[in-house]
Amino acid sequence: MRIVLLGAPGAGKGTHCKRIADRYGLVHLSSGDILRRERAGGTELGKKAQSYMDAGALVPDDLIVEMMTGAIRQAAAGYVLDGFPRTVNQADVLDQALAAQGTGIDMILNLRVDDSVVVERITGRRSCPQCGAVYHVKNMPPKVADVCDRDGTPLVQRPDDTEEVVRHRLETYYRQTEPVVDYYRAGHAVDDIDANGDADVVAEVIFRRVDPPAKKGPGRRGKK
Ligand code: AP5
Repeated sequence: MRIVLLGAPGAGKGTHCKRIADRYGLVHLSSGDILRRERAGGTELGKKAQSYMDAGALVPDDLIVEMMTGAIRQAAAGYVLDGFPRTVNQADVLDQALAAQGTGIDMILNLRVDDSVVVERITGRRSCPQCGAVYHVKNMPPKVADVCDRDGTPLVQRPDDTEEVVRHRLETYYRQTEPVVDYYRAGHAVDDIDANGDADVVAEVIFRRVDPPAKKGPGRRGKK
């Protein structure tokens, strides 16, 4: 299956994409995670992306499109996209690239969450720089404070997770990324999901939507 998970910063895209990938045997392709790895590796792409990310702005489309279409090609058997596409242009280029491969998106899930919830979730998020596991100081704390449950690595806060930057990321989302939802609605079925609740409850709702098409097997299901 090829699934796109849309949603504002802090909607739970990363949290739920990991669960979806585990349950359905898909590759989790997160544009944010790939960019952070490029930064950590000191690559040219990472250096170019750094200032945009720290300011809560979008990295230019040409850099992102090349990076993500390459990753998608390698995961052609099935993936869940997290953080991409994030502009109408990115969505358009993705559609064209998939059409050229004779494939398309099977399912689009749109996580909807209130702005106040976003700020609380993002400022409380901590993650493991080693394995990428994501925690929250109140909602999903690690067993031992500030240490990853999986590998014992000290947890870190992302530099773009301050309240000031989060508010800018939200503005960027409404201006540049929300139109992607309307772009998809014009030609695809988009499943809106209330993502304000507890993560396990949200995951159950997602699984109820994805289980039936996943059981049916390959085929394009997302087109209207
Ligand atoms: P990216 O890493 O994609 O950030 P984002 O979209 O802002 O999303 P987040 O990772 O902040 O949130 P999330 O929805 O994954 O939430 P999470 O599951 O972690 O992008 C970062 C930057 O990279 C961008 O600003 C941009 O500069 C650049 N970039 C990336 N893609 C790009 C693109 N396509 N084009 C251009 N630039 C791009 O959850 C958040 C917290 O809440 C966690 O602590 C979690 O434990 C907790 N939580 C989650 N769900 C729940 C729940 N239901 N209940 C309680 N707590 C919960």
